[in-house]
Amino acid sequence: MSAIPKDPHLDSSFALLKEGYRYIPERCRRYQSDVFQARLLMQNTICLSGEEGARLFYNESLFMREKAAPRMLKKTLFGFGAIQGLDGDAHRIRKQMFMSLMTPDNVQALADRYAEQWQRDIPTWTGNHEVVLLYAVQFQLCRIVCEWSGIPLPEQDVAKRRSQLTALIDGAGGIGLRHLNARKARKEAEAWIANLVMQVRQGALSPAPQTALYVFSHHRDSEGNQLDPKTAAVEILNVLRPTVAVARFIVFAAWALNKHPEWQQRLRDEPDMLQPFVQEVRRVFSFFPFTVARVRKDFEWKGYPFAKGTRVLLDLYGINHDARIWKDPEKFDPERFLRWDENPFNFVPQGGGDHHQNHRCPGEWITIELLKVAVKALTQWIRYDVPPQDLSIDTTRIPALPESRFVISHVRPVMREPAQIGLARGE
Ligand code: HEM
Repeated sequence: MSAIPKDPHLDSSFALLKEGYRYIPERCRRYQSDVFQARLLMQNTICLSGEEGARLFYNESLFMREKAAPRMLKKTLFGFGAIQGLDGDAHRIRKQMFMSLMTPDNVQALADRYAEQWQRDIPTWTGNHEVVLLYAVQFQLCRIVCEWSGIPLPEQDVAKRRSQLTALIDGAGGIGLRHLNARKARKEAEAWIANLVMQVRQGALSPAPQTALYVFSHHRDSEGNQLDPKTAAVEILNVLRPTVAVARFIVFAAWALNKHPEWQQRLRDEPDMLQPFVQEVRRVFSFFPFTVARVRKDFEWKGYPFAKGTRVLLDLYGINHDARIWKDPEKFDPERFLRWDENPFNFVPQGGGDHHQNHRCPGEWITIELLKVAVKALTQWIRYDVPPQDLSIDTTRIPALPESRFVISHVRPVMREPAQIGLARGE
């Protein structure tokens, strides 16, 4: 057995903060290895990259999620008691609860709502004023995901809820004020949703049966018990928060359309390229940098020892930019997805492996369908200008965004018959 290559610094947390998405890929290049060790957040941590690394990481007999995520992430991004920290049967039963929402009809219903929301918003965006796309889209997504999830959202609360849901994500990778804001937002958001869960159980609120509020309020865990209202709230927020986060991919899609304007016409002429285009957006701009587990039992991989209990980070961003998998990985080239083999371990913007068995994101279909609606709207339902602004993307800031949040102006609707809007299924 040989020793795993080691980042020699006493603690590399600062380097991780400073280098962001590039921290793991850069060390892998330096050590010529898909695995290295570093001391991160006061713990010995193994960083793992590459397709083979992903395949290893999703082997549940070797890795587990219990106590894997740092507490600072539980206080902000995930919440305590969330599915992200469950293993075995407890995980599978909880995962089934999420997957039951992801039927093709239910996902399509959300996409249809989103298309309707665009049609409602276009007249208000039209004119000489500027629209900050990130915020405008977050408002849209906050409205439609609450409606789809059975969560009542009075008009006067929309701004408050949008800002709470976005603070959870924005603060997750931050320190100082960003982090404190996220903790405050989590407390308030959990109290809001837990109260609704109790109302459902008391019969004061009757959401439709296929909604997250209904399903999660009535869900039974592996011992046949209902989730306590706080845990149910944590899991409902596990639907609301990431759906609003799809706004980031939408902004990156707009950024890519601006940088590669030839794709605007191409997407109008070739509807079949919509799916490859959004896949390439998810690959190039995969803003969730890594996911985390712990070694379940001692084992050896490629001659390297993995000691029980060690924290392991899987380099999602690095795998999506791995030159061994993706030729010319920094190039934005949707056509590469015409040739992709659907391998669940080489394209991992939302995790890898199996959606039911592993911790892979149950919201992938939602993400793809919402992105398709937005890209269609941006290329076919409106024309707009992109005024001078700072469009740079700081890859040391996690999660990343274009500096200006992507401002558009002079929005003009493209006149079309309602039937031509083309929300037809499968488009
Ligand atoms: C905005 C785009 C999204 C990104 C970048 C993203 C990314 C991810 C990643 C990287 C994971 C962890 C995978 C792992 O640990 O192996 C994950 C898990 C998860 N995501 Fe997403 N996600 C997104 C959208 C969504 C949506 C729309 C939902 C709504 C249902 C969702 C719900 C979840 C849940 C519940 C988990 C935990 C799954 C489990 O532990 O089994 N995500 N996501």
